[in-house]
Amino acid sequence: MYIGLDLGTSPLKAILMDDDQRVLAEHTVALSVQRPHDGWSEQDPASWERAAIDALRAIRQQNDCRGLRGIGLSGHMHGAVLLDKNGDVLRPCMLWNDTRSHAEAAEMDADPRFRAVTGNIVFPGFTAPKVEWVRRHEPEIFDKIAMILLPKDYLRYVLTGEYVAEMSDAAGTSWLDTGARDWSDDLLAACGLSRAQMPRLIEGSAPSGDLRDKLGIELDLPMLVVAGGGGDNAAAAIGAGVVKDGSAFLSLGTSGVLFAANDGYRPDPATAVHTFCHALPGTWHQMGVILAATDALNWLSKLTGQSAAQLTHGLGDLRAPSRTLFLPYLGGERTPHNDSAMRGQFLHLDHATDAQAAARAVMEGVSYAFADCRDALGATGTRIDRALALGGGARSGHWLDMLATVLGFPLDVPEQGEFGAALGAARLGMMAATGAGAEIATQPPVARSHEPDTALAPAFAEGLARYRAAYGALKAL
Ligand code: XUL
Repeated sequence: MYIGLDLGTSPLKAILMDDDQRVLAEHTVALSVQRPHDGWSEQDPASWERAAIDALRAIRQQNDCRGLRGIGLSGHMHGAVLLDKNGDVLRPCMLWNDTRSHAEAAEMDADPRFRAVTGNIVFPGFTAPKVEWVRRHEPEIFDKIAMILLPKDYLRYVLTGEYVAEMSDAAGTSWLDTGARDWSDDLLAACGLSRAQMPRLIEGSAPSGDLRDKLGIELDLPMLVVAGGGGDNAAAAIGAGVVKDGSAFLSLGTSGVLFAANDGYRPDPATAVHTFCHALPGTWHQMGVILAATDALNWLSKLTGQSAAQLTHGLGDLRAPSRTLFLPYLGGERTPHNDSAMRGQFLHLDHATDAQAAARAVMEGVSYAFADCRDALGATGTRIDRALALGGGARSGHWLDMLATVLGFPLDVPEQGEFGAALGAARLGMMAATGAGAEIATQPPVARSHEPDTALAPAFAEGLARYRAAYGALKAL
């Protein structure tokens, strides 16, 4: 048996999987995000620790865990957990959607070494500019940094006492030589840091350490190996079997991700596509990332006082988009704009625009943002013929019909069950414990496919053209 622990922005989720990859149990613990200032987004690592221990305890209490052999970890990417020489946390973790370090990111990005070595733009959400922000605004904390960990690697430290990172998450720091799969001494030095402050690097499917004896006794768990694991997107890909070159998924979660697995390293930073290591040795992946996907609908929900389910209830069959446009840049955008200053926009409102019409425009706007990701991936030479549809938003068949039509390729919905980052983490735990490889990361059976509606495609193409023109026109304002 194996446990997959996925540290989401909310919630943390643990699953228990048997040797035949059946999910026997799951437990989730809610987590909250603190936003004390505009653009800030933080969590206290102690809340993750409590959530992880609670989840492990709950899994243990409900199940016979004697056959347990491994744990795999997954988590939201890019956060900076800063530790002092005693291993104590120095400040709250700045998360992936924290954009306060946009000035630092722009300066680093203007230094050509970063794009050349990491294969990526230095986005404000990435780790290095956040630590640079700390250097400039909280120098007394910067001076005490003895170790920098990514969020899920902090949980590893809690579980094993080891300072270890793995390639897929490390690639989102702006300090990794993504092609060579090693820290770049040059880039660390450019940030006033050194390799001594960075964790040891391993592959996601490799063992990183054993569960601490003390925790094993406290939680009544047997000797366990903890696998490297993966950043949440790479782990979700392992869970969904997106490991072979050309296979893809679209994730309609808080953020939106269009993800393609690659068998080689194909960076093209100018497209704003993210090119990261995959969680398996010798493989990479690319993704277009939009910052607000279901989060945009959640925003409308708060504004209107209607739940997302109420807003999207009764949308009926797909129909041509209205003239109302929504640009989902509530917290800026990564792909393709790399624009942390842009904000969300509603255009062409009229007396008939009610909450449901606004919801439809939000779903259309998010779908157009995915089309921008498709074209950014296309510009790197990565073509997607079909993709698995994952994430909470994929429960809306209407949204998937719309997305398939806008994107021009079918979206496959997996059968009911577990296939997300927690399953990917459990699979990586199994690989680390047994020596298995990519062959155990199979694709889930498909329940149904959403095909593009060719009759409506021209109307959505026109909507996409207006959406792009709107960004161009409004950027200056
Ligand atoms: C990827 C990214 C998000 C987070 C949160 O680059 O920032 O997908 O990992 O899920």
